[in-house]
Amino acid sequence: MKNYDSIGHVRGESIFVDDVTPPLGTLIGYVYYSPIAHGKILKINFAGAERSPGVAGLFSFKDIPGENQIGGIVQDENLFAEDSVHFCGHPVALVVADTYQHAHEASKKIKAVYEKLHVILDPREAASKNLLIIPPRKFELGNVDQAWDKCDYVIEGKAETGGQEHMYLETQGSLAMPLEGGGVKIISSTQGPTAVQRTAARILGLPMHQVEVDVQRLGGAFGGKEDQATAWACMAALAAYKLKTPVKLVLNRQDDIRITGKRHPYSSDYKIGLSKEGRILAYEAVFYQNAGAAADLSPAILDRTLFHCTNSYFIPNVRATAYSCKTNLVPFTAFRGFGGPQGIFVIESAIYKAAQRMGVDPSEIQRINLLNEGDEFPFGQKTFNCNAKRCFDEAEKKFSFGSERRGVEEFNSENRLLKKGIAVMPVCFGISFTTTLLNQASALVHIYTDGSVNISTAAVEMGQGVNAKLKRIAAITLSISESRIKIESTNTSRVSNTSATAASKGTDLNGFAVIDACNILVERLQKVAAGELGEADYTKISFRNEKVFDEGKPTAIGFPDLVNKAYLKRISLTAQAHHATPDLYFDTKANKGKPFAYHVYGSAIVQVSLDCLRGVYEVDSVKVVHDFGESFHEVIDLGQAEGGIVQGIGWITSEELIWNSEGRLLTDALSTYKIPDIHAVPKEIKIHFLENSPNDFGPLRSKAVGEPTLMYGIGVYFALVNAMRAFRPDLEPDISSPLTPEKILLSLYKL
Ligand code: MTE
Ligand code: MOS
Repeated sequence: MKNYDSIGHVRGESIFVDDVTPPLGTLIGYVYYSPIAHGKILKINFAGAERSPGVAGLFSFKDIPGENQIGGIVQDENLFAEDSVHFCGHPVALVVADTYQHAHEASKKIKAVYEKLHVILDPREAASKNLLIIPPRKFELGNVDQAWDKCDYVIEGKAETGGQEHMYLETQGSLAMPLEGGGVKIISSTQGPTAVQRTAARILGLPMHQVEVDVQRLGGAFGGKEDQATAWACMAALAAYKLKTPVKLVLNRQDDIRITGKRHPYSSDYKIGLSKEGRILAYEAVFYQNAGAAADLSPAILDRTLFHCTNSYFIPNVRATAYSCKTNLVPFTAFRGFGGPQGIFVIESAIYKAAQRMGVDPSEIQRINLLNEGDEFPFGQKTFNCNAKRCFDEAEKKFSFGSERRGVEEFNSENRLLKKGIAVMPVCFGISFTTTLLNQASALVHIYTDGSVNISTAAVEMGQGVNAKLKRIAAITLSISESRIKIESTNTSRVSNTSATAASKGTDLNGFAVIDACNILVERLQKVAAGELGEADYTKISFRNEKVFDEGKPTAIGFPDLVNKAYLKRISLTAQAHHATPDLYFDTKANKGKPFAYHVYGSAIVQVSLDCLRGVYEVDSVKVVHDFGESFHEVIDLGQAEGGIVQGIGWITSEELIWNSEGRLLTDALSTYKIPDIHAVPKEIKIHFLENSPNDFGPLRSKAVGEPTLMYGIGVYFALVNAMRAFRPDLEPDISSPLTPEKILLSLYKL
């Protein structure tokens, strides 16, 4: 079965925010934002805009009835700038008019005078001036300082990773409608309906029950709508509330690229120490996260960088320090992997440089340092059901790494201008929100009298297939056909206090809640069936393929009959359940605990071809052994794995964000910002599902799949560097991602 949204998407029938039939009289908003990266607003005059044709209202911070504050983790972000602006694109006002064109035209008539202030773009400069979002964070294991002396090799270096634009197909948007009694209903393209509800209530000075948020589905999010959908929803809600008219605000593509947050760029230092056998004895890393102008989710993302700073390896002595640095760029935000990829890239860079120095293949160092069962991570958690070695060994064997490597060497000895490169990329990714409290969800299940079933949860469908997965979980638990089940929109009036659908936890958290709610109904139905059949012990009743069984023997009762019988007996056919991941804890002072329910493991073998005359390259293959637990929806899981890999390749190769020295984004269109197209997709992607890996901590013994596979893309970086060094063996490549064709060409012919 396909993801059941795919047919609607292809036919253009799926409803996104901009497709909702707007109520008569709906007005359209346009955001006026700062053209400079840092400055004081000396004067601002809205009069011309307010008199512009079609304009119904103009809103700035002065019009906010509640608090002008949208910060989640840190209270440091205004909905509208007050007396100063902190990045190019900082929202200052919302113009509302009868049409988009009128609102846009009016926004150009806003006259503002700014006094420009010093612009900081580099996180290291921010750190040196102590411009930090939160105090530095540090994870430690063993004693690094004492370990260096015992090392035969000590290598130090620097690694850079660029940001990444989400480029979801559906841009940010919301439609807000006033409700009777002074409330608002917001249809939002958000991963976090409760975040929108809570913040809109705060902006409007209303209790949360006056704000209803509904989400049908998102045209992609990738983390970009976890926190950053909120501002646009609040603006639309503010205007709708004030004007008592529905207001729609959908960002155009260029504005979306300019004024919304992206993946955090990082600049990092590392020091790695190894024995002559290649065992990593000590590792020290310092991460400078470019947080942008406000905290957004940066502190949580910073922590995940630390959680993943040793990737799939056991290192006995580790010190990792991370700074969240305040700069004059757009507040950076969640992006698939949530800081993990940035941490993993640095340890892989360190291993690469160490291998180069020791004259061995990086895979030799990777292999002997892989995590074993019971090994301790720098944050105190120990591995359990650790599949790091299994995945690595199976990938090497199944995809004949040894002979492939020899093949690459042979090819390179026979070709002068075309070179191949190969690399192994292990991944270990922790599953749970590292903010423990967020690991909760709930489900509301109705069975109607015709036997059709309606399920509401906290999960938001964004293309990742969570609805298809929840449907399957419910069908299996209720022993009915999937065709009876409908997954409802995500709505704060039906399911309250939701965590964002993020951290790859959508299916895990909501799936368990669905199982619990369905089991409540199963027990009620067992009792009804037992009554009908004169069975004294209701636990002897079971269901299979929509039929009732008594002591394992089929009866004449089917699912719809039974439902109807329950209704006639006035038995409730609605159940609600709440699920919280058990046994999680984390001490944020000591930075020790058990933040993850489990880990996902995998290993990829990546091969590339590089044209050394022009710097262009192709990814020949990405072959993976990946730990899906026991997959119960292989098509969805495969789609997530393939999509993650391609998105990771984009981040590491072609997606380059360039700002000018004044902090203006130059790559603000698809003509200048290169996301992977069909030609960038590996010519071959093979995903092998690791066998015999049941996971007691995931629904139906599965594992989460959304984010981990993105990090296989990092392997492309090191495969490319290998190809570059085959062309130019004296090359000491800078470790700086994305590795664009331009960068490759410049370093291949560097004097
Ligand atoms: N897949 C698609 N098609 N679209 C998306 O927006 N988001 C990713 C991943 N896969 C995303 C996606 C991110 S960042 C996360 S955290 C997970 O899906 C969220 O969904 P899940 O928890 O249900 O896996
Ligand atoms: Mo995903 S970055 O956790 O939304």
